[in-house]
Amino acid sequence: MARPRIIVTRKLPEPVEARLKSLFTVALNPSDVPFSKAKLTTAMAKADGLLCTFGDKIDADILAANGARKAKIIANFGVGTNHIDLETAEDIGVVVANTPGVLNDTTADLAMALILASTRRMFFHEARLRRGEWEGFDITSGLGSSLRGKTLGVIGMGRIGTALAQRAHFGFGMKVIYFNRSKVLVPSIPEAEAAETIDALMAAADVVSLHVPGDAHNRHLISAERLEMMKPDAHLINTARGDVVDEAALIAALESGSIAGAGLDVFEQEPTVPEALMALENVTLLPHIGSATLETRIAMGMRAVDNLVAFFAEQVPPHQVV
Ligand code: DGY
Repeated sequence: MARPRIIVTRKLPEPVEARLKSLFTVALNPSDVPFSKAKLTTAMAKADGLLCTFGDKIDADILAANGARKAKIIANFGVGTNHIDLETAEDIGVVVANTPGVLNDTTADLAMALILASTRRMFFHEARLRRGEWEGFDITSGLGSSLRGKTLGVIGMGRIGTALAQRAHFGFGMKVIYFNRSKVLVPSIPEAEAAETIDALMAAADVVSLHVPGDAHNRHLISAERLEMMKPDAHLINTARGDVVDEAALIAALESGSIAGAGLDVFEQEPTVPEALMALENVTLLPHIGSATLETRIAMGMRAVDNLVAFFAEQVPPHQVV
C-alpha cells in the first residue's frame, strides 16, 4: 500500500522530521513561513493527513476542501486546538488529535518565570540598565514584592495549572487557591483550597495565573469587572490563550495602576501586540514561548507523529480530540 501523504505546515525539530520521513511521504516546510489560507486549503485537499500548529486557522472552508485526496486527520502540534473548527471537523469526519502531557513542566516553568519577572519587576530593571540609567546599588527604589506567604490563584487546575501550583507552593512558599470548571482534587498539594467562584479567587489572590483552554466559553473570562476585583498590588499571568483576557481592559488596568503588573506569553491577535501594551513598564511580554524548549518541542512532535501512525494503522490516535 502506498505510504500516506502528510503535509507539514511549519518547520519541525530535525528528529521529528526524520521520523516523519521514515514513515510517510512527507511535504515539509523548510522555510517555516506560515501557510496562507489558500495554501492550507490546497494542503487539506492534497494530503491524507495535515500536521499543523497554533496560528494555522483551520476553519470550515478549509475543512471542506476536496481534491485529489482529502486529509482525514489533522495532527495538531500543540495541546490547544482553538484554531481548528472542531465542530465542523467532527461533523464531516475529520479526526483531530493534539499533543498533551509533554509540555506541562515547560509551560509551568515559564508561568513561574513570568510570576518572578512581574513581581520582581525584572524587565523594568533590565530595560533601565540597558538604557544606561543604573547609577549603582540603591536601597529603596523600584522594589518588587516577595512570594513567600502570598496567595497564588490558579484558574484552570489541569495538568499545567497543577504543575505551576506545585512550583509556587513547594518552591516559593505560596499558598494556593484555585478555580476549576469541574470539581477537581489536588492530592499533590493537600493545602490547596478550591475557591467558590472566579470572582472570589480574583479578590483573594496576590497572583492570578490562567490555565484554561481558549474556547468560546472562556473568551474574555477575565473582563474589566474581574480585573477591578483584583488587589491593587496583584499580578495577572497568562500563558493560556490571549482571548481569555479582555486585552483592552487589561491595558486600562495596567495604565491606571489598578493592578501592579502582568506577565503575558499570549495575546488576543498574535503576532500583533498592541502598542499600548508595549509602552507599559509594568508588564512582561513574551512571544508565545510556553513550550519552547528543544526537548519539549521534540516530544510534542513525536506525539503528533504517534497520532498519525496510530490513525493510519486504523487505530484510535492516542490523543484524539474529535
Ligand atoms: C499549545 O500547546 O497549545 C501551545 O500554546 C503551543 O505550544
